[in-house]
Amino acid sequence: MPRRVLMDESEETREEIVHLSRLALAGRPQDVQLYIRRLAKRYRELAPELSTRLTTLLEELPSRVSPLRSKAMAAVPVDLDSRLQLVRYEAAPYLDVEPIYPEATREALGQVVAERRNRERLDSAGLAPTRTVLFTGPPGVGKSLAARWLARELDLPLLVLDLAAVMSSFLGRTGTNVRRILDYAKGADCVLLVDELDALAKRRDDATEIGELKRLVTVLLQEIDDWPVGALLIAATNHAGLLDPAVWRRFEMKVEFPMPDEEMACEAVHQFLGPDAETAGDWPELLAYVLKGASYSDMELVLRQARKAAVLSGAGLDAQLERLVRDRAMSVPHADRIELASHLVGSGLTTQRRARELTGVSRDAIRKRAGSSERTSTRAGDRAWKHAPTSS
Ligand SMILES: Nc1ncnc2c1ncn2[C@@H]1O[C@H](COP(=O)(O)OP(=O)(O)OP(=O)(O)O)[C@@H](O)[C@H]1O
Ligand SMILES: [Mg+2]
Repeated sequence: MPRRVLMDESEETREEIVHLSRLALAGRPQDVQLYIRRLAKRYRELAPELSTRLTTLLEELPSRVSPLRSKAMAAVPVDLDSRLQLVRYEAAPYLDVEPIYPEATREALGQVVAERRNRERLDSAGLAPTRTVLFTGPPGVGKSLAARWLARELDLPLLVLDLAAVMSSFLGRTGTNVRRILDYAKGADCVLLVDELDALAKRRDDATEIGELKRLVTVLLQEIDDWPVGALLIAATNHAGLLDPAVWRRFEMKVEFPMPDEEMACEAVHQFLGPDAETAGDWPELLAYVLKGASYSDMELVLRQARKAAVLSGAGLDAQLERLVRDRAMSVPHADRIELASHLVGSGLTTQRRARELTGVSRDAIRKRAGSSERTSTRAGDRAWKHAPTSS
């Protein structure tokens, strides 16, 4: 007897959900696709709208990815001796957080996307979209994130080659390995991120490695020059100054990723507080000021720790954030602490009493500081508050 007769409809739907979840969790994308196709067919009469939505999903999402994915899965380069994978492959890059960038960075990234989306128009004017981009900036400000963002916007898979890792584990074969990865990426429509490009420069002083490094730089120079339009090559570095000028010059576009300013830090705090931001009151402004000088990645880390501690202690997030501010205040010299306290009061973020509780600076000292800064400068709030690094 057919199963459908034995089960009522909701029971059957439940079975379908369980089956689909099982396939997805087992990492069997092809089977998931097949099953969704079957569901779309089955629901064509029963629930035409659902059926259309499923079909559209199948057309939109996996069609671009699956042919490449199977190709990539079969052929992503591995080191010939160790058989270790040389590159990380993400078929459909996903972002946990939405990146926050200053205007100039946003514009540059937007231009890369716009050029590729309007390729025909560029073609007809005899122009080609940007093929190679260099990302520069300190650690933890969103360079790798931007590569992922671009891949998502362009609906392309992302390949990440960590140059430092490849160089340290396969040194004698780095040149060959890098060439194989670049060749592979050139043959696929994808975004290739060559991360930690400065690894090239950092190793240059070691005489035993000079020959291999020279070969590697030569490989890179050739590859950047010959890079095809289909794939997008992005290289990222924390130390732009260390790069060989010949390598630097070859990238068609350079994008700078600066540390967050106070406004961006505030936005980031909002984002990193997640659902807690709704009830965070004036904490984001306060934290943005206190965390000034920290990277996004550091901010994310300390805020996540605070949120976890809040859940585990059951004492609420306020107590944890207060502790965070106090710890940061206590980790800087007394003079900076006074400056922090007077800023908190002067900008209206806290009362004098709360500022004293958070920073341990006496009310008199806060008043005195506020008085003197009013006399000497009208831009006291603009001054950077120097403090210890966030990351431990
Ligand atoms: N501009 C940003 N906006 C929002 N979140 C960010 C930003 N920059 C970094 N983050 C957070 O920090 C994490 C790490 O950032 P990412 O790996 O992009 O830094 P990076 O600049 O590549 O650093 P590194 O030079 O160390 O590789 C991100 O996954 C994200 O959660
Ligand atoms: Mg990175």
